[in-house]
Amino acid sequence: MASIRFDRIGKSFGETEIIKNLDFSVNDGEFMVFVGPSGCGKSTVLRMIAGLETISTGELWIGDRVVNDVHPKDRDIAMVFQSYALYPHMSVYDNIAFGLKIRKLPDADIRKRVQDAADLLGLDKLLDRKPKALSGGQRQRVALGRAIVRNPSVFLFDEPLSNLDAELRVQMRAEISKLQRRLNTTTVYVTHDQVEAMTMGQRIAVLSACDKAHPRDTNLMQCGSPMDLYDRPDNIFVARFIGTPNMNIVHARLGDDGATLSSLGGSMPVSAQFKEAAQARRGQEVMLGIRPEHIGAPHEVDWPQIQAVQGQVEMVELLGHEAILHFRVGEQIMVGRLHSHGRLPSPGDTVTMHLKCEAIHLFDPVTELRLR
Ligand SMILES: Nc1ncnc2c1ncn2[C@@H]1O[C@H](COP(=O)(O)OP(=O)(O)OP(=O)(O)O)[C@@H](O)[C@H]1O
Ligand SMILES: [Mg+2]
Repeated sequence: MASIRFDRIGKSFGETEIIKNLDFSVNDGEFMVFVGPSGCGKSTVLRMIAGLETISTGELWIGDRVVNDVHPKDRDIAMVFQSYALYPHMSVYDNIAFGLKIRKLPDADIRKRVQDAADLLGLDKLLDRKPKALSGGQRQRVALGRAIVRNPSVFLFDEPLSNLDAELRVQMRAEISKLQRRLNTTTVYVTHDQVEAMTMGQRIAVLSACDKAHPRDTNLMQCGSPMDLYDRPDNIFVARFIGTPNMNIVHARLGDDGATLSSLGGSMPVSAQFKEAAQARRGQEVMLGIRPEHIGAPHEVDWPQIQAVQGQVEMVELLGHEAILHFRVGEQIMVGRLHSHGRLPSPGDTVTMHLKCEAIHLFDPVTELRLR
């Protein structure tokens, strides 16, 4: 087992900066998820940890050594890719055993390790099959098996579930989480799927593309527990990236008293956590963030402090257990939630919805950072 420390890591391809000042640690035995939009540099980070990509600036520590110049095979790492990269002409057994044979482990040792991994992954009846005779989920398990038998200090996963159908993805993400807790191996898992990040990660690191990270000195937008990121996003990027549907973000102005907020055609009290920040910015423009679950129909919610907001229905998405309401307030489209068993409004209807004032987030309109 080992911790991983990024000490001001940067990576550029030619003139193009991809990773900027990555400075944080993954603890020994921790399950860390890297999440971010396509092209933000997630795979590049994993490849740097694995030693498949050079590091432009900074130091990468695995355990108690700097590994910038350590060859991939000497880093004691196992990586699982999106494409399972199985050998089609080899059986499941041989695919799992391959890395161990290369390392010339004794046959008996190999057999024991493969058998243990197969038992753990429910592959024991499939060891003689070729990959083409396996389902997607079974192939993914073989790829996991190949990583597990190496008994590495670190697991790296690069979007390992994105080739699977929705149901299998849910099942495999639970299996991988369980497996990781059981083996307690330090894990870095990359995905662009924030649901995967929320459900699997002990902590989540949110990356953005360098040009979008403006004006920050790093493209690591926030690192914390799933609920930290959900309840206290550091900036608008994280606020919108984590949670589905996205958080609503609208312009607002603080009153001259610093205790009220005008937006969406009304005036509402500033919540307790922003009292001081709002005082310091009396009369100024801010950005207001509110999650869809904090906008509800008056007869369906019971919040101590609400602000009524009126708008025109654009669309209602019925999900079964609930309905997502898109409604227009002036130029702004807002998204709220309705119970699906009530009477649902139709496009064009005028609706009044309640905003939960305590759940409002405030951000700086220029830096996009959470007010403190
Ligand atoms: N060898 C390379 N040379 C130049 N640019 C590269 C190279 N490898 C990656 N890039 C660029 O670096 C950026 C980050 O790539 P990376 O593969 O790390 O993104 P990602 O976050 O994994 O995206 P995705 O979610 O699509 O897999 C992209 O803009 C990509 O075009
Ligand atoms: Mg990638």
